[in-house]
Amino acid sequence: MRFFTPLVALVSCCAASASAAVSCTVIAAGAGLDNGPSLLSAVQACPTTIIPVGTTLNISTRLNMTGLSNKEIKLQGTIRFNPNIPYWSGNGFTYPFQTQVTFWQFGGSNLRIDGGGTLDGAGQAWYDAFKKNSSLLRPILLTVYQAQNVVIESINMINSPEWFNFVNEGTGITYNLLNLSAVSTSKNPAKNTDGWDIYRSSSVTITNCNINNGDDCVAFKPNATNILVNNLSCNGSHGISVGSLGQYPGVYDIVENVVASNIRISNAENGARIKAWAGKTVGSGIVKNITFSTFNQTNNQNPVIIDQCYETSASVCTQYPSNVYISDVSFDGMNGTSSKTTVASILCSPDNRCSDVAVNNFNLIPPVKKGAAKYACQNIALTGNAASLFGTCATT
Ligand SMILES: *[C@@H]1O[C@H](CO)[C@@H](O)[C@H](O)[C@H]1NC(C)=O
Ligand SMILES: *[C@@H]1O[C@H](CO)[C@@H](O)[C@H](O)[C@H]1NC(C)=O
Ligand SMILES: *[C@@H]1O[C@H](CO)[C@@H](O)[C@H](O)[C@H]1NC(C)=O
Ligand SMILES: *[C@@H]1O[C@H](CO)[C@@H](O)[C@H](O)[C@H]1NC(C)=O
Ligand SMILES: *[C@@H]1O[C@H](CO)[C@@H](O)[C@H](O)[C@H]1NC(C)=O
Ligand SMILES: *[C@@H]1O[C@H](CO)[C@@H](O)[C@H](O)[C@H]1NC(C)=O
Ligand SMILES: *[C@@H]1O[C@H](CO)[C@@H](O)[C@H](O)[C@H]1NC(C)=O
Ligand SMILES: *[C@@H]1O[C@H](CO)[C@@H](O)[C@H](O)[C@H]1NC(C)=O
Ligand SMILES: *[C@@H]1O[C@H](CO)[C@@H](O)[C@H](O)[C@H]1NC(C)=O
Ligand SMILES: *[C@@H]1O[C@H](CO)[C@@H](O)[C@H](O)[C@H]1NC(C)=O
Repeated sequence: MRFFTPLVALVSCCAASASAAVSCTVIAAGAGLDNGPSLLSAVQACPTTIIPVGTTLNISTRLNMTGLSNKEIKLQGTIRFNPNIPYWSGNGFTYPFQTQVTFWQFGGSNLRIDGGGTLDGAGQAWYDAFKKNSSLLRPILLTVYQAQNVVIESINMINSPEWFNFVNEGTGITYNLLNLSAVSTSKNPAKNTDGWDIYRSSSVTITNCNINNGDDCVAFKPNATNILVNNLSCNGSHGISVGSLGQYPGVYDIVENVVASNIRISNAENGARIKAWAGKTVGSGIVKNITFSTFNQTNNQNPVIIDQCYETSASVCTQYPSNVYISDVSFDGMNGTSSKTTVASILCSPDNRCSDVAVNNFNLIPPVKKGAAKYACQNIALTGNAASLFGTCATT
């Protein structure tokens, strides 16, 4: 075992052959110092890097950990990203997709992060700064980028400045037994703190996690395919969301083969959701073979929603229906309470842009003072034992 402490020791350590070291331990270098270079060098040099219990690494420089192979990071202590906003504004890794930026890109093959510790985004400074500057680019906590066979397991992620996890161009990526929580202690909310955004990636599983955040719990973005999400507890989120898709002209978005099951979701804007743009200058794509099953919903505004006229007025949507075609979607076992009267809305664009949407085993109940549950639908012939709740869907 080797200890990576001050930068001087580290440099001499890493100039030597790394083959002898099986595991390296990174401990904090002392108050006021940046531990980013130590962590980066340890991971590059050693198959296993340990951040021990009681250690908080202060990361003040970006972590470019791409192209790794056969690495494990045992995060038993804490990795905290120093909220030096001017530094990160110029130095985060950037991605063109939705103009995202990240503290840490982690990629390669056969990688693991585990250990029971905490990844801390120190988001409060960001939540407050974003209130003053709405164009501030806030970093994603962890981006798994161009990776195969990655397991992120048994850690906590707290106070991400923006999205917690971005899965970008990966395959075989597993997240298991994580707790995510973003809570603002000021009046400025922890905005856009999505749990996961999956983009251009396949074979991704997210299981057995607790999430308390201020935007999508999980979002399936363009070209997320073969995804399993199971046994999550989401609180305060914007839901388990497909999309939004079809936003950018000339871009073709695919989301297919997705299962989201056994989800407990509370105090959310949406429960199970699909959203796609319509309008004159938008993109195109398909959403196919999506299953939402067994959602225990509590106090959610829109427990079940398809919006295929996303951010588009009814008249424009009639003239320019969505070019994202939706088919083979199942909502099965949607139970619990809503905060509004309308408990389910399946609103498709006109011109047969949705097909094979099944609704089964619905038991969604609005607050007593809101009266009986309402169901809304348009431009779709629903199937399944809950279809009768919706009545005949309007044609627009
Ligand atoms: C983290 O490192 C930066 C840069 O060296 C330093 O300014 C800051 O005080 C450190 N923070 C902590 C908590 O040590
Ligand atoms: C990150 O490191 C990889 C090598 O693994 C290099 O190719 C890439 O240019 C680096 N990215 C940045 C933004 O520095
Ligand atoms: C707001 O944030 C943007 C993007 O990070 C930056 O370019 C701009 O200078 C900031 N504006 C102010 C007033 O700080
Ligand atoms: C996540 O939270 C649960 C419930 O509070 C706890 O039992 C579990 O140990 C936490 N996981 C980690 C990695 O700390
Ligand atoms: C669901 O995940 C939690 C951890 O968040 C775990 O304690 C529980 O055993 C899991 N339930 C099932 C049925 O696997
Ligand atoms: C759940 O989310 C609601 C709404 O954001 C919040 O008020 C509440 O504190 C959260 N509960 C927990 C246990 O974090
Ligand atoms: C999604 O995949 C399809 C088929 O490979 C490709 O044509 C399209 O450009 C991809 N879209 C994005 C947003 O990557
Ligand atoms: C639908 O998606 C699920 C989950 O990825 C997959 O297991 C199943 O084979 C897919 N069905 C078809 C017909 O592709
Ligand atoms: C659904 O969630 C509510 C609130 O969290 C809980 O009281 C109830 O036991 C859950 N029901 C099922 C069937 O899991
Ligand atoms: C959900 O509601 C359906 C229909 O009322 C019911 O058959 C099913 O047992 C409920 N499931 C849960 C987990 O509460």
